[in-house]
Amino acid sequence: MCGIVGYVGVNQAAPILLEGLSKLEYRGYDSAGIAVREGKEDPVVVKAKGRLRVLADKTDNGKAVHGTCGIGHTRWATHGAPSESNAHPHVSNDRSVTAVHNGIFENYQEIRDKLLRNGYTFYSQTDTEAAVNLIDYYYKKYKMGPIDAIAKTMVRVRGSYALAVMFRDYPGEIYIARKDAPLIVGAGTDGNYIASDVPAILQHTRTVYYPDNLMMGRITADTIEFYDLNGDLVKLDPVEIQWDASAAEKGGYEHFMMKEIHEQPRAVADTIRSYLKGDPDKEDALLSVDLGKIGITDEMLKGLKEICIVGCGSAYHVGVTNQYVFEDLVKIPVRVELASEYRYRKPVLDPETLVIIISQSGETADSLAALRISKEHGLKTLAIVNVVGSSIAREADYVLQTYAGPEIAVATTKAYSTQLIGCYLLAIGFAVSRGTMQAHEESELLHELLTIPAKIQKILEDKERIQWFAAKFANAHDVFFIGRGIDYGICLEGSLKMKEISYIHSEAYAAGELKHGTISLIEDGTLVIGVLTQSELYEKTLSNLVEVKSRGAYLMGLTMSGNFDIEDTVNFAVFVPKTDEHFANSLAVIPLQLLGYYIAVSKGLDVDKPRNLAKSVTVE
Ligand code: M6R
Repeated sequence: MCGIVGYVGVNQAAPILLEGLSKLEYRGYDSAGIAVREGKEDPVVVKAKGRLRVLADKTDNGKAVHGTCGIGHTRWATHGAPSESNAHPHVSNDRSVTAVHNGIFENYQEIRDKLLRNGYTFYSQTDTEAAVNLIDYYYKKYKMGPIDAIAKTMVRVRGSYALAVMFRDYPGEIYIARKDAPLIVGAGTDGNYIASDVPAILQHTRTVYYPDNLMMGRITADTIEFYDLNGDLVKLDPVEIQWDASAAEKGGYEHFMMKEIHEQPRAVADTIRSYLKGDPDKEDALLSVDLGKIGITDEMLKGLKEICIVGCGSAYHVGVTNQYVFEDLVKIPVRVELASEYRYRKPVLDPETLVIIISQSGETADSLAALRISKEHGLKTLAIVNVVGSSIAREADYVLQTYAGPEIAVATTKAYSTQLIGCYLLAIGFAVSRGTMQAHEESELLHELLTIPAKIQKILEDKERIQWFAAKFANAHDVFFIGRGIDYGICLEGSLKMKEISYIHSEAYAAGELKHGTISLIEDGTLVIGVLTQSELYEKTLSNLVEVKSRGAYLMGLTMSGNFDIEDTVNFAVFVPKTDEHFANSLAVIPLQLLGYYIAVSKGLDVDKPRNLAKSVTVE
């Protein structure tokens, strides 16, 4: 969604803003703008529709806009089409207040009407312009200071927002406010920074503050202050970000997505090793899952009646796979919910349910709402998140952090892989704690889990085969992925990877469902990808492949090494190394990520920033 960057300090602000915004390009946007001021002068506002490059050209990479205090924005249109007048920053009628905003003000029409009645006019269709003028209205009418005027606005508006505001009368100061949208403040040596995500400022500082919900801030070149809604000062402690700046660079790869695919062995290994007891490098060590690290006790697990896994997109797919894993290992009822549905249904859950929220960003609006609703119902919540300090990480009762590092490409790969690992670890730990698994079985499974990074590496070393196959199907219109059980979960993710970056229509089907309608779509040459990693279901899915083949389908079969007979049925076989079948997703997803990637590349598409998509969906 929208990106925000701000800077106040001793250096020229505009180049810093543009460079920061470029680090947020992965979030998706359609226009961009900056407002920069020097001393008491009015801010200079420059905007451009389209890519950030257009704004950079217009301002000579920022060099043409002078001033050491400024705010910048990349917009993903919600209210009003992408255009220069709708782009941020927005200014109040007499230019006293200038602001950028990420999120949605739901009651903006009501606010506009109120302001129209009070003589204000509007040049854009945005909800943001209404809020900027509302701040101005309170600021002048009640002769309030900036913090009080923003606080009064926060009480009046409904919705989600991260706001960065400059007041004409307060040179060298940036004010911020947030509710249900991410915004961080970075403390630098040559000035201070604000941003909607860490990569935007990582090059300048790793000392970051995470303001809480409904908090405001005042940032100058050498001070950072936070306030609550009453206007009282609040003390926050900074967090040292461990990610280094190079983690957010392409590092020689053509695309972030390819770099992140190759980072999976490291990300998976780091996540496994962070939650183990025992020496993972000793073959005969007795290994166990360190649930204590996330604060989960045997006592809490003993009373558990149900698990409910909630997420969006790929995070939801992690849940689908792990429903099978949890049920098989922990012998407990598990349901998996799309966060956007869960939040508006009235799910009937046992009070002893553990709700597991999965989210890379920790800011996805629907997942955050699902977490809050669960807490309101008195349910225990556990978040599997990648971004430390994110809203979901802060609000959940328990947190299992994944160690993917910053994920820039819109299509998730390494974060997804680490979420799978997070779930496996929980399932194994829960199983031992609840007595459905013995300690020696736990240790054996964990030793096997430790082999996954090297096996992923092996698959990556053979990626040219997938590249060759992708070239053959770059012009496909429809692709179907079929599998059963865990393989169905793999299909969901393979299909999403295909459609989101290559724009090829694809669907994932539980293989047994094909006959109930979808098989009528199979024509001569339709690509059907069968995933067959589960030995008990192998023959069943193979029969489904034979059925579609006899209707003209072209078959790719994805299975574990050893199932060589698949070559008698399919046109193209892909084998992944053998592993415990509970972990099969971690290996089988890799060729499917590569397939989506290579097809997108051969079609010349913007792999890292697919059309209409944003990395972090912070609005409904
Ligand atoms: O940040 P989150 O994990 O909460 O994001 C959830 C989905 O938006 C995300 O997984 C999305 O489906 C990815 N683009 C898929 O590649």
